[in-house]
Amino acid sequence: MYRSHNCGELRVSNCGQKVKLSGWIQKSRDKGFMIWIDLRDRYGITQLILDSERSSAELIEKLRELGRETVIQVEGEVVERSAKNQNIPTGDIEIVVETVEVLNQAKLPPFTIEDQTDGGEELRMKYRYLDIRRNPVKKALMFRHQVSMMVRNYLSEQDFVEVETPYLIKSTPEGARDFVVPSRMNQGQFYALPQSPQTFKQLLMVGGLDRYFQIVKCFRDEDLRADRQPEFTQIDCEMSFVTQDDILQVFEGLTSYLIKEIHGVTTGAFPRMTYDEAMKRYGNDKPDIRFGMEFAELNSSAQHRDFGVFNSAELVVAIAVPGAVEYTRKQIDALIDWVKRPQVGAKGMVYVKCNEDGSYKSSVDKFYTQEDLAAWAEACGAQQGDLICVLSGDQKSTRTQMSALRMELAEQLNLRKADEFAPLWVVDFPLLELDEETGVYHAMHHPFTSPKEGQMELLDKDPASVRANAYDLVLNGNEIGGGSIRIHDKEVQKTMFKHLGFTEQEAQEQFGFLMNAFEYGAPPHGGIAFGLDRLVAILGGQESIRDFIAFPKNNAGRDVMIDAPAAVDAAQLEELGLNITNISADES
Ligand code: AMO
Repeated sequence: MYRSHNCGELRVSNCGQKVKLSGWIQKSRDKGFMIWIDLRDRYGITQLILDSERSSAELIEKLRELGRETVIQVEGEVVERSAKNQNIPTGDIEIVVETVEVLNQAKLPPFTIEDQTDGGEELRMKYRYLDIRRNPVKKALMFRHQVSMMVRNYLSEQDFVEVETPYLIKSTPEGARDFVVPSRMNQGQFYALPQSPQTFKQLLMVGGLDRYFQIVKCFRDEDLRADRQPEFTQIDCEMSFVTQDDILQVFEGLTSYLIKEIHGVTTGAFPRMTYDEAMKRYGNDKPDIRFGMEFAELNSSAQHRDFGVFNSAELVVAIAVPGAVEYTRKQIDALIDWVKRPQVGAKGMVYVKCNEDGSYKSSVDKFYTQEDLAAWAEACGAQQGDLICVLSGDQKSTRTQMSALRMELAEQLNLRKADEFAPLWVVDFPLLELDEETGVYHAMHHPFTSPKEGQMELLDKDPASVRANAYDLVLNGNEIGGGSIRIHDKEVQKTMFKHLGFTEQEAQEQFGFLMNAFEYGAPPHGGIAFGLDRLVAILGGQESIRDFIAFPKNNAGRDVMIDAPAAVDAAQLEELGLNITNISADES
């Protein structure tokens, strides 16, 4: 037996008991005649004590030599501490050590294994198993487990069946590149790893399963960001005989249940906003609505004077920044530099200070009267004490730039509070999106999404105007889920592929299996997939998903711990029929 108790368990009521504990040495304090050791395991820390009165000199000597992170097993008696530690649950007791066994020695770890560590991100990823010993990472993984369990139980109780779908499949277009896997038995042919189980879950509906879910790995070869990993997890769901409203209701239920269970916060009915409205009010299809600073379009109140920059702009748009009249010249210059960074790309920024005495001071006083500025303030709801920021230019980039500025200001003013939850459904997405480089239309969600009723005809005349039965769930400015009502009719699906530039043959080759299935009685169906990593991170009060993934990849898509991706040996390539010269084979 390695242990009678874990390191987080013993209390004053255990005093007098002989116990056995196993764990890692977190740290020791050596006063010569007395040694204290913090013994750590997943459950907590228990203090061990050795002193010259109660322990043998030999034992003290043995323990003195053990370094941090050594794995030991100790036996001893639980006693009440004279100096108690209120900060840990076991802080009232300590163990007077009687025997010690070293279970495994440890090299000096490359960073300190404490809540605040000196290790940089790359180093911690290389030694991720050590990082996982640290409370913040360990807690994040345990939190993820808790959320996954709650999701499983909730959906299971609502009659959803968890079904596993294959990982070695044919490409499913979700807008990213595929990871491909060569087939030894079918040389020259490749599987694709699923970007999502989209087509399979639809086939499960044709199969009559009615309500499906799966907590499932998805793979996308796309550029990485704080909220994107090449392999990530979805809570993937599909339902039959449902309208969009039915789906929104079920998953609003799941989301509010999680927020309530985890944070005790009641969210109420989630607001719904069309895509067009979100773009107009926030310049973004995933607006953070925990704070205001909504866009006000100033074209009519700013293009009547002699200010060429505004007069030539397609859009003049403003936000009122609460309480920011105090910003110094230096702070405003910093903001102007910020919007002019290549990542944001604005040419400049006009500002108006709404002084406490009711007057206005702007960077364009030469052109605009106090009445003009008052009209701007009214348009964007600015109060005395606020700062108005104005950007101008073409519609699309100006909205994007203003949206970035709005988020930056919210960060600066600490308006993005981690303990506040503002869910939002964004609905009525465009069906298609124009790729400006190629001039080709892509499905904005995916090619299986149905257009709004009666809009199919518009596909020929005005493709950009067609709206889809597609929706996203946004939480605190992050897209945590997205889905749609699907096409369930073969002819409609065929027409859709045609509009997406597939020849009939290409569509048949790639998606014949789905269209064929539609000929055998496909029920109307729809669904949604949540990004589990994102959901967990946001519920955990953070936006970077890496800490909630046990073994994440770095920004270059590498696992620096196992050093992947890596070359494979020449024989393996040969076996796969991949004798391609530009593949780096490991010749050794
Ligand atoms: P979508 O592509 O919108 O929909 O993905 C659903 C959700 O998955 C999360 N997500 C990611 N999380 C981490 N890293 C990534 N690289 C990543 N990419 C996406 C997001 C997103 O909202 N099959 C459809 C769903 C459906 O129609 O039912 C789909 O995959 O939170």
